[in-house]
Amino acid sequence: MSWKTIDDMDFNGKVALVRVDINVPVEAGRVTDATRIEKIVPTVKAIQEKGGKVVLLAHFGRPKGQVVPEMSLRVTLPALEAALGQKVSFAEDCIGGPAKKAVAAMAPGDVLLLENTRFHAGEEKNDPAMAASLAALGQVYVNDAFSAAHRAHASTEGIAHLMASCAGRLMEAELKALDAALGDPMRPVVAVVGGAKVSTKLDLLGNLVEKVNHLVIGGGMANTFLVAQGIEVGASLAERDMADTARAILAKAEEANCAIHLPTDVVVAREFKAGAANQTVAAGACPADAMILDAGPATVTAIADVFTACRTLIWNGPLGAFEIEPFDAATNAAAAKAAELTKAGHLTSVAGGGDTVAALNKAGVAGDFSYISTAGGAFLEWMEGKTLPGVAALG
Ligand code: 3PG
Ligand code: MG
Repeated sequence: MSWKTIDDMDFNGKVALVRVDINVPVEAGRVTDATRIEKIVPTVKAIQEKGGKVVLLAHFGRPKGQVVPEMSLRVTLPALEAALGQKVSFAEDCIGGPAKKAVAAMAPGDVLLLENTRFHAGEEKNDPAMAASLAALGQVYVNDAFSAAHRAHASTEGIAHLMASCAGRLMEAELKALDAALGDPMRPVVAVVGGAKVSTKLDLLGNLVEKVNHLVIGGGMANTFLVAQGIEVGASLAERDMADTARAILAKAEEANCAIHLPTDVVVAREFKAGAANQTVAAGACPADAMILDAGPATVTAIADVFTACRTLIWNGPLGAFEIEPFDAATNAAAAKAAELTKAGHLTSVAGGGDTVAALNKAGVAGDFSYISTAGGAFLEWMEGKTLPGVAALG
């Protein structure tokens, strides 16, 4: 893995085409979480300090090659201007006349946002003509969109082959953190994988058991593993047709010397709702009409011991139904332990994936992890051991 950074490039008087991921949540015409916007500020400032003009390329939603007014990037302008502390101009189209005109009007230090790249079908098709139209707007390409790097699109992949290219500051930080967690980590390494289904995380589990020393499995997918071992889980969410697959993963783990940690005690309830009456039972003692909604305290203690024995933690997915109390208890307690060990300098902790970040924010400890990725799908594909096209194109 080798790529250039902003430090290696000349931006003086040049137009930098900066691919960012500002695919942020919006409600009633307002950005409700500006995290992704705030994260691009160091890249923009660094280019400005080197005398460059900053043209932001981004997608927003999934308009599928059509102009969909509700998916205009214009809605992000106030949040962008607030984050950058300066005026940001806007062009109605990311290629052609409007884009060229807006770029021609720029002075060094200016920032211009181009309209949603996905308004053109050529973006997702990685059409060479689309990539060439984008590339024609500037002299240097900077990819700062790790969270969109799993897409081989014109603005994330094609364009990188057409001009001098480098990684932005956020891309650099993501790649460094991920390398410290799975590429060349301090051992032992523990991975926590939770969430509802085994079927969506098969490749991920298969890759992890070969790379980590301990794998903690939580959430609904743990039930599937319990079933695969002949343990009944009552009315719990479980993919019974995935039992063979789960057994194959267990066998692969054993061969690779990866210790799998499943819940030994569980919190069960008869209703999936906040405050539902619940009890803690042994993993094999879920009543036939009850559902497992969280891992129990003995399991949490065992997880804390594994964390303490490890030097690196990589986390994707909650351990229980964290959105409804009190079934967030195991996730909160394990997250708090990880945060404590990280603060003590004992553990490098990296987390990513949509639900994971929400769960850690809810636990109030996200700020104490070594690194929280802004990526959802890209983080998962990276955990699966896949090469991300947007990253590969920078190499
Ligand atoms: C995301 O929000 O995960 C990224 O921006 C990628 O979006 P996509 O899943 O629509 O490609
Ligand atoms: Mg996505």
